[in-house]
Amino acid sequence: MLLLGIETSCDDTATALVRDGRHVLASVSTDQDAFHAKYGGIVPEIASRQHVALLSAAVEDALARAKLALEEVDGIAVTCGPGLIGSLVVGVASAKALAFALEKPLYGVNHLHGHIFAAFLDRAEPQYPFLALLVSGGHSQVVRVESPTRMEILGRTKDDAAGEAYDKTARLLGLPYPGGPELDLLAQRGDPRAHAFPRHRPDRGTLDLSFSGLKTSVRYFLESEDGKRAKKEDVAASFQAAVVDVLIARVAAAFAQRDYAAVVLSGGVAANSALQAALREWSARNGVEALIPPPQYCTDNAAMIAAAAYYQRDAAIVDPLTLSADPNLSFSLSSRGRA
Ligand code: KG4
Ligand code: ZN
Repeated sequence: MLLLGIETSCDDTATALVRDGRHVLASVSTDQDAFHAKYGGIVPEIASRQHVALLSAAVEDALARAKLALEEVDGIAVTCGPGLIGSLVVGVASAKALAFALEKPLYGVNHLHGHIFAAFLDRAEPQYPFLALLVSGGHSQVVRVESPTRMEILGRTKDDAAGEAYDKTARLLGLPYPGGPELDLLAQRGDPRAHAFPRHRPDRGTLDLSFSGLKTSVRYFLESEDGKRAKKEDVAASFQAAVVDVLIARVAAAFAQRDYAAVVLSGGVAANSALQAALREWSARNGVEALIPPPQYCTDNAAMIAAAAYYQRDAAIVDPLTLSADPNLSFSLSSRGRA
């Protein structure tokens, strides 16, 4: 089954051709960082205008790279939420038009489900149940995945998402947007034990996360006399060590509660070098398989959307005439209206 994936939920205009949910024939992503950088963050109106300008060419580019014609695809998979409404509607409208014109099935995919299945691209099939640590710019969640359509959120952030904490702290350190990858690089030259920033502990019986206290603590430290003298590399490494400790603690707590076949890392922050190293080390110590997507599938891409659609198949089929983008799309598949 060959699916064309389309992802425009935020600021990446992405398309992909994926066979059987795993074999990536082409994955194209045109990031818009250059258009947003001078504003220090994503400007939704600019993002949607850029999607309009870039999407048709991105579809053609993916087809050309895979040496395929549009008529050869078996269906279209598109992110229908959550995300920026103006951005989502561009991808959804294009996917609806393509599916209608080609008379091929249309799959409406939750962006976060896409991130979870990114770990299986160019790899083996998922073994269930697995634990997904989903850490992106907008979400931080610990998810039990029983099957492609049965997923339970065990813990979520009470305030900032992990990527948001990275981006805000990077800004405090004077790093350019987007800050996560920049902070990661800076931290590699610093001492993670230089400063003791707080680690959030969840309420009893929950696996919830929180990063706003950590970010505020870094801010107060940077404003202090000690902070003004501190090396930025050390502050970055110490902040990162706190984020990584908290995330690994949640994975360990989830495994202590129930059994899993593997742990899957996903979302933009999965690209973080310290988090990857810590998860690999934890999984080796505990005899658990860790699946971490290659960098190009950690951040937003369309191959993961085609993958999720393949695994969810009938449960993700939607009507090309009535599908609408939903910026607040619920994580649960069962709560969605179907074709
Ligand atoms: O999944 P994603 O591409 O977009 C969302 O769905 O949010 O995640 C983007 C987030 C940004 O906050 C970015 O700073 C963060 O992922 N990120 C990183 C790294 N690469 C991307 N954070 C820490 N270290 C990285 N290497
Ligand atoms: Zn994302």
